[in-house]
Amino acid sequence: MRIIEVNDYQQMSKRAAEYIINKVVQNPSIKLGLATGGTPIGTYKSLIEDHQKNGTSYQKVTTFNLDEYIGLSSDNKNSYRYFMNDHLFNYIDINKAKTNIPSGIAPDFQEECHRYEDIISRHGGIDLQILGIGSNGHIGFNEPGTSFGSKTHIVNLAPSTIQANARFFSRIEEVPTKAITMGISTILKSKEILLLISGEKKKDALCRLLNGEINESFPASVLKNHPCVTIIADKVAIADLEVQCL
Ligand code: PGA
Repeated sequence: MRIIEVNDYQQMSKRAAEYIINKVVQNPSIKLGLATGGTPIGTYKSLIEDHQKNGTSYQKVTTFNLDEYIGLSSDNKNSYRYFMNDHLFNYIDINKAKTNIPSGIAPDFQEECHRYEDIISRHGGIDLQILGIGSNGHIGFNEPGTSFGSKTHIVNLAPSTIQANARFFSRIEEVPTKAITMGISTILKSKEILLLISGEKKKDALCRLLNGEINESFPASVLKNHPCVTIIADKVAIADLEVQCL
C-alpha cells in the first residue's frame, strides 16, 4: 500500500480528483468503482470543476457504485442513486445508462445481487475502485465479520454505521437497516484501489489498517492483500499514528 499524506480534506479531494482524471484521460473507457458518503463529495466537486474547465470527458466511462440502501428508490434524496446524480452525474457528460448502482427497490434482492455481480464481470471488472472507510473498518457496507470471500450481498447495517449515517437523514429512525453491497471479493478484484481517509474520526481506523492483522473483524485489512492500493489521507487522520498505535 502506498500512502500519500496531504494537509486537509480539500487537498485530499483535489489529489484524488487528479488521480482519477489522469486515469480517465489514459483510458477513456475506464470502468470506475464509485463510493458515496461524506468522504468523496469534495473529489466529485473537483471532477465537476475540471470537467467544466478542461472538458475531461466521461462519455465512454462506465461506473459501478459500491452499494445502495434497501427500500430507497432513486428519487429518494437519501438513496445513493440520488446522491450520485446530485453530486456528480448530473454535472458531467457521463451516459447515465453506463452508471450502475444496485437497486434498492428490486422485486427480488437475491436476484439483484446476482445481477449486479454478473454485470461487473461482464464488463471485465473494475479498473479503479474509489473507497472510503467506516470507523469500524467497513468498506462498502461490508461490516466487521463479513467473509473475505463475499460477493455482492444483502447486509444488516451495524448500529455504528446507522448512527454515523444518520447525519444525512432528518431522524435516525429513517436510516434503512439493510443494504445491498458489493462483497469484499468483488472489491478486491478491482485492478486498482484508491482509498480516501480524512479527519479525526478515521484516525483509529487508519491506525488499525496500517498496524493491525489481516482479519475479517476489520474488513479494510483485506486491502493489504491487494497489489495496487493507494491511500490518500490527511494530516489529522495520520497524526500521531505511532503514538496512538502503541
Ligand atoms: P463517510 O463514510 O465518507 O461518510 O465517512 C465512509 C464509509 O462509511 O465508508
